[in-house]
Parts: sequence; structure tokens; C-alpha cells
Amino acid sequence: MEKTFRIAPSILSANFAKLGQEITDVITSGADIVHFDVMDNHYVPNLTIGPLVCEAIRPVTDAIIDVHLMIEPVDRIIPDFAKAGANIITFHPEASNHIDRSLSMVRDLGCKSGLVFNPATSLDYLDHVMDKIDMVLLMSVNPGFGGQKFIPQTLNKLRLARKKIDDYMEKTGREIWLEVDGGVNADNITEIAKAGADTFVAGSAVFGAANDNDPNRYETIIQSLRASLAKA
Ligand code: DX5
Ligand code: ZN
Repeated sequence: MEKTFRIAPSILSANFAKLGQEITDVITSGADIVHFDVMDNHYVPNLTIGPLVCEAIRPVTDAIIDVHLMIEPVDRIIPDFAKAGANIITFHPEASNHIDRSLSMVRDLGCKSGLVFNPATSLDYLDHVMDKIDMVLLMSVNPGFGGQKFIPQTLNKLRLARKKIDDYMEKTGREIWLEVDGGVNADNITEIAKAGADTFVAGSAVFGAANDNDPNRYETIIQSLRASLAKA
């Protein structure tokens, strides 16, 4: 069976002065998902975008908006993102005192839910909440900034996560996506896919690749990511 791979450009590296157009163009060029990085200058040392921006871009695209919360705490703001049109909401387990409750909250609001694992965070959290998870996101950099280098140890962790997810899917028949985030590019995406990821965030690799006004300007990079994925 052919594997499904999804490409999720992180708009953190987009031109914020033209955000709507950037999103339209990257989806037109063949991307699948809009990865939306939320940072609070508390859980991570950077500050980005919130529900207002999510609400503003929602009418621009039918693509899945994948909200990655790098904020602490999470419960107060989850409903705002659901209302703003997020499709997937993921958060870091260290950032919630009551992980099971936060996951349920996301689901109850009609979104897909997920947990995000920093490079040194154990996957053990998964064992007790698998039923409440639609996506597992492994950070392949320490969160906070775009443009960092992929941490190779993530490949081992991906294999571990793949195994847990495959075992679960076999038992339940329910699908869980495995996403990777940080330093993904056309040179390393083949081995990342081989290690088990099916959904790939790429910020600087996509938005750093083109700078003219051609609406299909991201086609070359997205095609090259897909060509590398085809080798996995
Ligand atoms: C990092 C963010 C990533 C980041 C990825 O904290 O979660 O989504 O934007 O950017 P690149 O692909 O440039 O590493
Ligand atoms: Zn992210």
C-alpha cells in the first residue's frame, strides 16, 4: 500500500506582511497543511501569533490549520483557537497540569488533538492517553525558532513512536498521524520518512526557498520534498 505523506509548511517563516497571500500560494503550490506556531515568551523564548491571526487566515484557505501551541498553560486559550477555526491543536505535555483534561477539551471543541514531544521529553506520556490523541508531534529541534538544525537523535525516537502508533492502530483500527517539526529539508526528509514520520513541518526550507511574486513559487521546493519522499 502506498504511504500517504503530508507536507505542512510552517508559516513562522512566511512573510507576515503578506500572510494571506503566502498561505494561498503555498497551498496552490502543493502543500497539504498550514502549520501555525504559537509562542508565548514564557514556555519558549519567543513571541508569535495567536487566535486573532488564526481567525484572519481561516477564510483564506480550506486546508487543515495545524495549531502548535508552545505556550503555558494551555487550557485558557484552547477554546479561542477552536473558535478561530483551528482543525488540529497540539500542545506540549510539560505545559499542561492535566494533560488528559486538555486533550479532552480539544476534542470536545471539535478539533483533532495531539501531544508534542521536545527532543528530551519521554514518549511515556503517550501510553495512558493514546485514545485521546489524533497526532503525535516530535520536535526535531528545541522549540522557539525556525531555521535550526535537525537533531539526528530524533530518528531513533521516530522509530519508537512509529512502533507505539502502529501497535495501537493495529489494535483499534484508528489512525494517528506522526508529525516531525524542525530542520526538515529536501536532503533529510527521505530518512525522516523512513524512520516513520508521515507528516512533515518545514518552515525555512519552504519559505526561504523563493522570493519573487510568482503564485507557484513554492512549487519547486514542494516538488523536491515530494520527490525525496517518493524514495522513502
Ligand atoms: C519551532 C517551530 C517550527 C519551526 C520550523 O519551534 O515549532 O514549526 O517553524 O521551522 P524550520 O523548518 O525552519 O526548522
Ligand atoms: Zn511547530
